[in-house]
Amino acid sequence: MKFRINRFDRRRIVWRSPFHVAGYHGAASRSGNSDTDQDQPVLECRDLRKSFGELTAVDGVSFRIAAGETYGLLGPNGAGKTTSISMAVGLMQRDGGQVLVDGEPLDPGTTGLKAKIGLVPQDIAIYPDLTARENLRFFGRLYDMPRAKLRGRADEVLEIIGLGDRADDRADTFSGGMKRRLNIGIGLLHAPRLLVLDEPTVGVDPQSRNAILESIEQLGSEGLAVLYTTHYMEEAERLCDRIGIIDRGQIKAEGTRRELAQIVRENDRVRLSATGSLHAGAEAIGRIDGVQQVDVVDGGIDVLVEQAGKSLMALLSALDEASVSITGVEIDEPNLEAVFLHLTGRSLRD
Ligand SMILES: Nc1ncnc2c1ncn2[C@@H]1O[C@H](COP(=O)(O)OP(=O)(O)O)[C@@H](O)[C@H]1O
Ligand SMILES: [Mg+2]
Repeated sequence: MKFRINRFDRRRIVWRSPFHVAGYHGAASRSGNSDTDQDQPVLECRDLRKSFGELTAVDGVSFRIAAGETYGLLGPNGAGKTTSISMAVGLMQRDGGQVLVDGEPLDPGTTGLKAKIGLVPQDIAIYPDLTARENLRFFGRLYDMPRAKLRGRADEVLEIIGLGDRADDRADTFSGGMKRRLNIGIGLLHAPRLLVLDEPTVGVDPQSRNAILESIEQLGSEGLAVLYTTHYMEEAERLCDRIGIIDRGQIKAEGTRRELAQIVRENDRVRLSATGSLHAGAEAIGRIDGVQQVDVVDGGIDVLVEQAGKSLMALLSALDEASVSITGVEIDEPNLEAVFLHLTGRSLRD
């Protein structure tokens, strides 16, 4: 049978699996570390504010990120993402608000705390005529890392960013995506607790983009706190345990992808391709918890349900009992584009 979840903005993910849908649960529910309130956050920003002349770029932005959590700031160009993170990492003076790193205030003149943060700026800063390894060592020395420690760490980082086999090639032979990964490597050199990435996939080809996202997923799963800005909904959905939707300097809503999707109160749509006594099947489905609407259509049954992931097994077994045989399952979940539109009246894309 065919099995699909449609989440990534109309692109379709297709599983072809034997009849039962093992593997679905892991794929469908983000492992989300959203319940981390009892933990001290690695980064906490409270009510950040910044104006440039008349323009209020950041207008009271607050968020917290726990160890092992990937937090996304999702918003269009000009929303205030770069300005917010520049204040969060202590690169830009703030007009108001507080930044706490591991519970300690980050203020001008604070030393030590910045060492817990790795920043990957939007502009790539590497030396084209140095090799990947030489770049890492150069920046490591710039950060005052001891030479002996730096050697081993540079090699470790090369593995993390997947450039181990290109370590001795000059950076000017690299694709845009590889340069970007090297840039991420520089941010990781001093083994920070928090990695901050500012739109790291902009201008990168799809294959490299995927490699970058994979590295970040890996780092998050290893306990690093990650702050990730993007205007790509698909990236926020894929990477982030929690997402703050930012527009005009304010976080308009925050939560897991699932929590945000609830804002638009759209249900998941499950299309079951099936043969057999469809009307009996539809009637059985109508009695399942969470099911909002059932329609028999040509070649199957359409179901509107609160959460497809929660009800899918019940749907399938109800149909089985009604002697309906299923040939395919397709799921449409509301996406963050719909949420953004709902919150701002505008599209994420310009
Ligand atoms: N140094 C600056 N001087 C004046 N305006 C700025 C400066 N930096 C950013 N801005 C303005 O602040 C707003 C937010 O910018 P930014 O934080 O870069 O947004 P984003 O990163 O979400 O695209 C934009 O309107 C931008 O033009
Ligand atoms: Mg920016």
